[in-house]
Amino acid sequence: MNMHAATLAKAHPLDQETSAFGRDVIGDLSQHPKRLSPKYFYDATGSELFEQITVLPEYYPTRTELTILRDRGRAISAIIPKKAALVEFGAGATTKVRLLLNQCAFGAYVPVDISGDFLTAQADALRADFPSLAVYPVTADFTAPFELPQAVRAMPKVGFFPGSTLGNFEPHEACAFLRSARDILGDGARMVIGVDLEKDERVLYDAYNDAAGVTARFNLNVLHRINRELGGDFDVGAFTHRAIYNRERHRIEMHLISRKALTARVLGKNFSFRAGESIHTESSYKYSLDRFNALARGSGWTPLESWTDAAGMFSVHALVASD
Ligand code: AVI
Repeated sequence: MNMHAATLAKAHPLDQETSAFGRDVIGDLSQHPKRLSPKYFYDATGSELFEQITVLPEYYPTRTELTILRDRGRAISAIIPKKAALVEFGAGATTKVRLLLNQCAFGAYVPVDISGDFLTAQADALRADFPSLAVYPVTADFTAPFELPQAVRAMPKVGFFPGSTLGNFEPHEACAFLRSARDILGDGARMVIGVDLEKDERVLYDAYNDAAGVTARFNLNVLHRINRELGGDFDVGAFTHRAIYNRERHRIEMHLISRKALTARVLGKNFSFRAGESIHTESSYKYSLDRFNALARGSGWTPLESWTDAAGMFSVHALVASD
């Protein structure tokens, strides 16, 4: 904790989760250029808005990945050892994992997520629909090392990381995550991972600038969250959503742009904005098959096979842990 955050924590006694949020917000808004971590999008409202994004006509990734998982189920199950433990990094809607569970004979399912409540609800729903499947939820930050449950240690392991969540990591973070997953899953492990692909810039632009404005609300919600949870006084109406494709860095960038000069106070600290100043809230990296395979090879994994939809919008990769 830096000195400033320590003073704030004393002045505003916060629970542990809120103080991590407060510390990150203060630190990130003190940077030049200002930024906020995309992990703070997902409070209850943000998670609901993200669910709405996944069914927008412009937002192709979710439905395209589902199509690949459905159409290539047989090929995917061919690379999965019998009675393996399926370890899902992050627990979201269960639609994708259900497709795998229906198509492959898994011995156990281990969803890993920081939100214990969410995990319990997800595990209960899956136990009801797959009564013979052993479900062992693990409450943990999946980007850091964690222990697998004793009951699955002797089983073959298959990691599952759908949704192109990897794209929200900076390249060095993506490499660190893949290395950590390799260590956690162990020798001989397989990994099934969904990765969004580079494509026509207009298609990318539209996917993050939907006509209904849901992505804008999702982006702006982080300021509402700061106001609500950290006693901030952001004039949210003075900010506007901007998403652009950064071609050199192969990424969509989401920003919140201040329409006018203003000051916002968070946890007793003032942050001044110039008219037109940005807070960079998210990067969503898009890969080519070659660039993703190079990343996997450099992070402890050997590419086995990859599948795309007919239009080459999205990819699902099977990897095996390198020796
Ligand atoms: C969760 N993640 C993969 C989404 C993405 O496309 O980068 C988050 C998102 N941001 C705006 N729309 C969706």
